[in-house]
Amino acid sequence: MHRVAISSTGLFTPPQTITNAELVAAFNQYVDLENAKHADAIAAGTQQPLTYSNEEFIVKASGIKARYVMDKEGVLDPTRMRPRFAARPDEALSLMAEVGVKACQDALDNAGKTAADVDGLICAAANMQRPYPAMGVEIQTALGIHGWGFDMNVACSSATFALELAVNAVRTGTARAVLVVNPEITSAHLAWMDRDCHFIFGDVGTAILVQRLDLAPAGAFEVLGTKLFSTFSNNIRNNAGFLSRCDDRDPADRDQLFRQEGRKVFKEVCPMAADHIAGHLQSLGYTPADVRRFWLHQANLAMNQLIGKRLLGHEASADEAPIILDEFANTASAGSIIAFHRHNGDLARGDLGVICSFGAGYSIGSLVVRKVA
Ligand SMILES: CC(C)(COP(=O)(O)OP(=O)(O)OC[C@H]1O[C@@H](n2cnc3c(N)ncnc32)[C@H](O)[C@@H]1OP(=O)(O)O)[C@@H](O)C(=O)NCCC(=O)NCCS
Repeated sequence: MHRVAISSTGLFTPPQTITNAELVAAFNQYVDLENAKHADAIAAGTQQPLTYSNEEFIVKASGIKARYVMDKEGVLDPTRMRPRFAARPDEALSLMAEVGVKACQDALDNAGKTAADVDGLICAAANMQRPYPAMGVEIQTALGIHGWGFDMNVACSSATFALELAVNAVRTGTARAVLVVNPEITSAHLAWMDRDCHFIFGDVGTAILVQRLDLAPAGAFEVLGTKLFSTFSNNIRNNAGFLSRCDDRDPADRDQLFRQEGRKVFKEVCPMAADHIAGHLQSLGYTPADVRRFWLHQANLAMNQLIGKRLLGHEASADEAPIILDEFANTASAGSIIAFHRHNGDLARGDLGVICSFGAGYSIGSLVVRKVA
């Protein structure tokens, strides 16, 4: 058995941002257009009018102030309300693979490694561009990795669940290093025309290089343990799938995109995530007070505050549990990885940290890591 480290992380940030002000302005134009279109039914009382969104609600309910997207124009077009991506020929690199390759390249550069140092790649994300051939194989081949690649999806916990597999492959010696990559083009699964959730998501790509500790560069984090948990819930759900056309579903049906019971998710997932982290630490002989930094999933500011409080007994400071969702919104599986990427450089040798995701499934995944040098 080998000791295992996170050697580096990589980040691809999409070129465009949408502020809450821009988002709400476009949404409210959409509301006006829809209400005008259905004016007769609304006047007759057979249809409810749509209501405006507002910036104050979004910041207060979520902490989100902006989001990065791969295509701003399509999302903000009140007659479209979804990104516009040009179809690419089969011979061209897929959009999702392009995001993944850039994040992986950044991770390799940050570790001073090349594709020749890596034996496998897991593409782990909440949505896949296609069923096959695997996005992971496309990204692996584009990077020039001689080995293997595959896809997996555990929604917002895709990255941490993939890290468990990568860590075990390296620990048991079947790979020297594995790249976990999370190209999250969440703008394509978001119902931008639904005011309850139109502000929630953003696009991004992250990558994590998991490597044998003896091969890892200075500044690496040893992985002391991984812990996964899942239990079925319908409170975060997307019914789009390969059976949809056989069910004669309209792709525009509301259940073919992201939906959630936000209040229930909040109430059920926070205690579960806090207990999961505390239990994981305890199994390794630690308590939350021993942890220098928590890199938590980034869905909602109040969620992270509540989890921090349950763990530490006081509100976690930005230093104890950094927040990136104000800038990025919820980026599905990438959130805790962006937090780690942005906020690990100041830790000292021996400092302990926890990476933890939580989301649909429900699914919770955590890693306890220690800075080695
Ligand atoms: C989604 C979430 C931000 C919503 O916040 P909330 O405080 O629970 O808000 P609610 O949905 O209860 O809505 C409260 C009110 O604001 C209204 N509202 C909803 N969206 C609004 C918007 N964009 N603008 C203005 N008002 C809005 C609602 O209609 C409701 O009005 P009512 O009280 O008259 O019925 C919050 O529940 C949450 O973050 N949950 C965590 C789950 C999560 O983020 N999961 C992501 C996947 S891991």
